[in-house]
Amino acid sequence: MTVEEILVDIQDISRIYYLGSSELKALNNLSCKVGKGDFLVIAGPSGSGKTTLLNIIGCIDKPSSGRIIFERKDITDISLDKLNPLRLNHIGFIFQSFNLIPVLTAYENVELPLLFKGLGTREIRELAEKFLHRVGIADKMHQRPSSLSGGQRQRLSIARALAGNPTLIVADEPTANLDRKNAESIIELMRELNKELGVTVVIASHDQMVIEHASSRLFIQDGSKLIRHE
Ligand SMILES: Nc1ncnc2c1ncn2[C@@H]1O[C@H](COP(=O)(O)OP(=O)(O)OP(=O)(O)O)[C@@H](O)[C@H]1O
Ligand SMILES: [Mg+2]
Repeated sequence: MTVEEILVDIQDISRIYYLGSSELKALNNLSCKVGKGDFLVIAGPSGSGKTTLLNIIGCIDKPSSGRIIFERKDITDISLDKLNPLRLNHIGFIFQSFNLIPVLTAYENVELPLLFKGLGTREIRELAEKFLHRVGIADKMHQRPSSLSGGQRQRLSIARALAGNPTLIVADEPTANLDRKNAESIIELMRELNKELGVTVVIASHDQMVIEHASSRLFIQDGSKLIRHE
């Protein structure tokens, strides 16, 4: 990968969690590159450090040592607060438990981050409706998440993550709460959007089906890189 082709360059990071007087090294001198347009799956057993690594790639957590380069900019020493604009404008998040706002309708859930971005009313409406259509839940637009199925909620999270035109989507176990059929259609949808929009996708998952859909795979164990397949 040339420098221009790399979106996130993780260089020799460690992440230590401090619990009272004990320390837990969740990531141990790990390096990896996320290429632009990749559909990268981070796989490994429970407790291996997948979520920890994903949170660092998504700029919602910081490593204890090592460096992070995001689009050729070294962001290692920038505080998480100061990274808010980067997250808002460039990164979309999809979580296992959806993290939708229960009192808002599907439409309003998609609209909210676009309001934060300061887009105009008309543009927001167009984008929100476009992505709700694209993920196949336009007919549920005015319903709240509690009246949607698990698969529909995950489609809504995808619409919300993508409507802001992010460079990067990070998804933590996006299929964990879905049955097989829904899980497969969610991953296929994410893969299609990755190809269609060119958005880079990084997924943490131990689901074999998800791993099979990846364009590249990073296997980790005990916080260290085991192997990488392109
Ligand atoms: N906030 C935290 N404080 C202390 N230890 C933590 C914290 N978050 C994670 N850990 C520990 O760090 C290690 C890696 O956790 P992580 O959540 O990254 O694993 P994972 O690979 O995502 O696991 P899973 O497949 O179960 O989601 C685990 O041993 C975990 O107990
Ligand atoms: Mg995890």
